[in-house]
Amino acid sequence: MPSFQSALVFTTLVTSALAAPAPAAPLVPRSFEVLQVRNPNAPPRNGAAAMAKAFAKFGFGNTAVQRRAMASAAMAGSGSASQAANGTTGGGDNGSVGTASANMGAEFLSQVTIGNQQFNMDFDTGSSDLWVFTNALPQQSVGQHSTFIANKSPSFKQMQGATWQISYGDGSGAAGTVGTDTVNIGGATVTNQAVEQATAVSQSFVQDMQNDGLVGLAFSSLNTVKPQQQKTFFANVMPNLDQPLFTANLKNDSTGKYQFGTVDQTAFTGGQLNWAAVDNSSGFWQIQSNSFMVGNQKMQNPTATPAIADTGTSLLLVDDMVAQTYYSAVPGAQLNQQAGGFTYPCSTTPPNFSVAIGNSGYMATVPGSMITFAQVDQATCFGGVQSNMGAPMQIYGDTMFKAQFVAFNGGNNSLGVAPKAGIAMN
Ligand SMILES: *[C@@H]1O[C@H](CO)[C@@H](O)[C@H](O)[C@H]1NC(C)=O
Ligand SMILES: *[C@@H]1O[C@H](CO)[C@@H](O)[C@H](O)[C@H]1NC(C)=O
Ligand SMILES: *[C@@H]1O[C@H](CO)[C@@H](O)[C@H](O)[C@H]1NC(C)=O
Ligand SMILES: *[C@@H]1O[C@H](CO)[C@@H](O)[C@H](O)[C@H]1NC(C)=O
Ligand SMILES: *[C@@H]1O[C@H](CO)[C@@H](O)[C@H](O)[C@H]1NC(C)=O
Ligand SMILES: *[C@@H]1O[C@H](CO)[C@@H](O)[C@H](O)[C@H]1NC(C)=O
Repeated sequence: MPSFQSALVFTTLVTSALAAPAPAAPLVPRSFEVLQVRNPNAPPRNGAAAMAKAFAKFGFGNTAVQRRAMASAAMAGSGSASQAANGTTGGGDNGSVGTASANMGAEFLSQVTIGNQQFNMDFDTGSSDLWVFTNALPQQSVGQHSTFIANKSPSFKQMQGATWQISYGDGSGAAGTVGTDTVNIGGATVTNQAVEQATAVSQSFVQDMQNDGLVGLAFSSLNTVKPQQQKTFFANVMPNLDQPLFTANLKNDSTGKYQFGTVDQTAFTGGQLNWAAVDNSSGFWQIQSNSFMVGNQKMQNPTATPAIADTGTSLLLVDDMVAQTYYSAVPGAQLNQQAGGFTYPCSTTPPNFSVAIGNSGYMATVPGSMITFAQVDQATCFGGVQSNMGAPMQIYGDTMFKAQFVAFNGGNNSLGVAPKAGIAMN
């Protein structure tokens, strides 16, 4: 914990202050950044657990094929598919939990200040609640988490009668009460941000010891606060930014960052971002993605489901036909029931894999050297590209973000994507 805290450094970019003579009044920063670090306590990666987490998050698992996939993921050791540690306090089912197999944790965390208190939180472009562990949770749920103590924050105001509850497909989730406070991310503050106080969290969050909560960065229509839905941090801060966007620059092993209000032109290659229209009617950052590439060979996906950009999902989940086609080009690859997804010999370097970003013609490439998500055993690797098993969405998660720089533009609802600078392409 201490080493993690000290690893975080904040930089505020006061670009306009550099351009103009210092004005009399202090400037409100119009762009800012927050570092993202790899969760130091994240257990070893587990492919099946990552699959199950994604399926649970979006409530997939309704078809026979998906149920089989969930069951095999559970058998492979994640426990998450069958675990119904529902809402309460960690007293719930304990299935196969307790080892690396229970890796449902956030892989990347960033620092957030709520009122006068600091937390490490998971930035999630696939949900829209900002929630935090609190001292109202039972001690066994709190463990080593930092908890928000409302009555120690002078700027906190309780929102009478407001509640929230996020539940995932497997019944896991979190719930509680709501207030408003000043939230500071990398130097930009929103006063009166809705802060959702967890009074119940499921086992998977309890076990993720470094992660004190989530910052949801999808559209506010997915926010779960009742009776009055609340706006996300991004929706609140957007009017004050230089540009109405934020960018995700995630790194596999080292420190990445989120930036709000500005696009770092040195963070990507190709000279420009490739913009695709976002359909926000589902509340997600959703784009069309109707073609893909295996190596240099471009192919159509005539029955493509929409794709969402989700920093809170580890894998790149594509339509089943796409996954089948890709792995048919990887020597020795198989749909490995025991491992819970597609695997291949670690001695193989798989071909590049690319997905279309909207109808711009741009294909986002994950180089073959960055396809592996985790090692199943000495000789077997679990792919970062997996099938969505017939679910109605493709989910472009961290496997893509580690190779692609992505701008989320809330001004004209679009995603801008380009290859990240400094990654080895092979
Ligand atoms: C937890 O599970 C019990 C029994 O299955 C169910 O009755 C209850 O509604 C669930 N609670 C939540 C918060 O999902
Ligand atoms: C979890 O399982 C272990 C081993 O079977 C058992 O000792 C423990 O009491 C269980 N915990 C809960 C909360 O059910
Ligand atoms: C959205 O805005 C960006 C500039 O921030 C612009 O370059 C892009 O073309 C716009 N995209 C769409 C789809 O309108
Ligand atoms: C989609 O974006 C528009 C324009 O920014 C906004 O007015 C609308 O509320 C958004 N829809 C949803 C479902 O969030
Ligand atoms: C990414 O990080 C993980 C965990 O540290 C490591 O096992 C893996 O080899 C890394 N992958 C790449 C492509 O650097
Ligand atoms: C993989 O993709 C990168 C980036 O587009 C490219 O530079 C490289 O040549 C590709 N490798 C192969 C084997 O096609």
